[in-house]
Amino acid sequence: MSWWQEAVVYQVYVRSFADGDGDGVGDLPGITSRLPYLRDLGVDALWITPFYSSPQKDHGYDVADYTEVDPLFGTLADADALIARAHELGLRVIVDLVPNHTSDQHEWFQAALAAPPGSPERARYLFRDGKGRGGSKPPNNWDSIFGGPAWTRITEPGSSGGKPGQWYLHLFDTSQPDLDWRNPEVGDMFEGVLRFWLDRGVDGFRVDVAHGLFKEESLRDQNRSDLAESPTGSMVERVLRDEPMWEQPEVHDVYRRWRKVLDEYGDARGDRIGVAEAWTQTPESMADFVRPDELHQAFNFGWLATHWSARDFADVINSSIAALATAHASPPTWVLSNHDVVRHPTRYGGGAVGLARARAATLVMLALPGSAYLYQGEELGIEQVDVPPEARQDPSWFRTGEPGRDGCRVPLPWDGTAPPYGFGPGGTQPWIPQPDDWADLTVAAQSVDETSTLAFYRRALAARNTWVRGNGMACVAEAKRNVLVLRRGEVTVLLNAGQRSVAMPEGEVLISSGPVGDRLPANTAVWLRT
Ligand code: GLC
Repeated sequence: MSWWQEAVVYQVYVRSFADGDGDGVGDLPGITSRLPYLRDLGVDALWITPFYSSPQKDHGYDVADYTEVDPLFGTLADADALIARAHELGLRVIVDLVPNHTSDQHEWFQAALAAPPGSPERARYLFRDGKGRGGSKPPNNWDSIFGGPAWTRITEPGSSGGKPGQWYLHLFDTSQPDLDWRNPEVGDMFEGVLRFWLDRGVDGFRVDVAHGLFKEESLRDQNRSDLAESPTGSMVERVLRDEPMWEQPEVHDVYRRWRKVLDEYGDARGDRIGVAEAWTQTPESMADFVRPDELHQAFNFGWLATHWSARDFADVINSSIAALATAHASPPTWVLSNHDVVRHPTRYGGGAVGLARARAATLVMLALPGSAYLYQGEELGIEQVDVPPEARQDPSWFRTGEPGRDGCRVPLPWDGTAPPYGFGPGGTQPWIPQPDDWADLTVAAQSVDETSTLAFYRRALAARNTWVRGNGMACVAEAKRNVLVLRRGEVTVLLNAGQRSVAMPEGEVLISSGPVGDRLPANTAVWLRT
């Protein structure tokens, strides 16, 4: 079995993990200094969000130079030191790759703006003439994920200077122009980027917006009449949306090419991997990204999106496993939180109930076959923070006026009783303010409390190594009333998603997400040896 097939990977959101130089923003030396914490937690690998040169309009997902470290986060030497120290501690390092778009400050986009319509410089992006009189309307009806139209009109340079001209596509912020992956220069550039970081020793790549690189060639309008969900909201019965901007078949050739490059670098340390951030509409199309000659993993967002219901949990577990098996694809992955979604204790209702449910869902996740991804701070039981409007920085907040994603990106509390809770040296306040009531949530406070969420995560990760790893990929989940039941080898896993306690079957309790006696309380999960 290769390391990644059962790995637990910890997501580090670089701005918010640990600040080494005291400027209030997390950085690479900060991460390196905290690597022993991750080793002691018991994870196998870390995935670090983008730390490359960037104007930080979307916090690094707007890359201006893919092979330089942004001075905000350190230097290339700091990246090398981080990778080397992680390997010494037995941790693998996955870095983020952002191939769908560049920053508008990337030299390619600057050259495209300076060159005329129809030039090779423009052909690396998706520039088009507008519709309507004088081309004053966007080329099609697509929306940006961050709100508003997916097109921005430029002012043409040169002799026609000052005149409104062509439009360019950006599925995200205006500052993130989409590349044209039908242009071979783009694929060649990214193969170079892969090799650059592989040569520096990284163990893999998380591929940003992996389902988006190709757009339907005609760039036709999206048909909006079928955007409604089916009445049951079930994944399988859902009416599929018309999405000419996502999941185009050509994207899979990119991953076949990358797989060959990754395979070239495999050595005694093991495989180098790719993990797709692909928000697909069905488990079957998720499976396409992890066919044997494509990427190794794809985030299983179906699990993250599932409501608190034993039946829905069982459905998503079984349908994900079945879809992957049918495609002869890689083992599944499981994830409950990341830097783009509301943290799972809050999604499950918040407060004591939300936390109990979050711990229970995590305990189930860690028993499932395949690999699991954790998001920094979930091991501390942190909830989504209501960041005050003046402190919000997510581009989607600026484009829509909706709160956005800042609330799951608040810097971690390490120790102390008041902000910045040891986030960095010198008492500098972090780039997003931390709540005043986090004193009990710090790593230091939870490390000396056996009932803390941190202590629970450490026990759960150790228990996974003892009882779950190596149990193969077989797993069938079922819902008995509102109790989820599944078996992994000698371990029976139960999660009570109902309102009342239920009788506990015979067996030795290996670990539970909360207190249990001869009954299994609501919002609690347990592993039993039966
Ligand atoms: C991905 C990232 C998200 C980013 C977007 C655009 O979804 O996870 O944070 O804003 O891509 O790059």
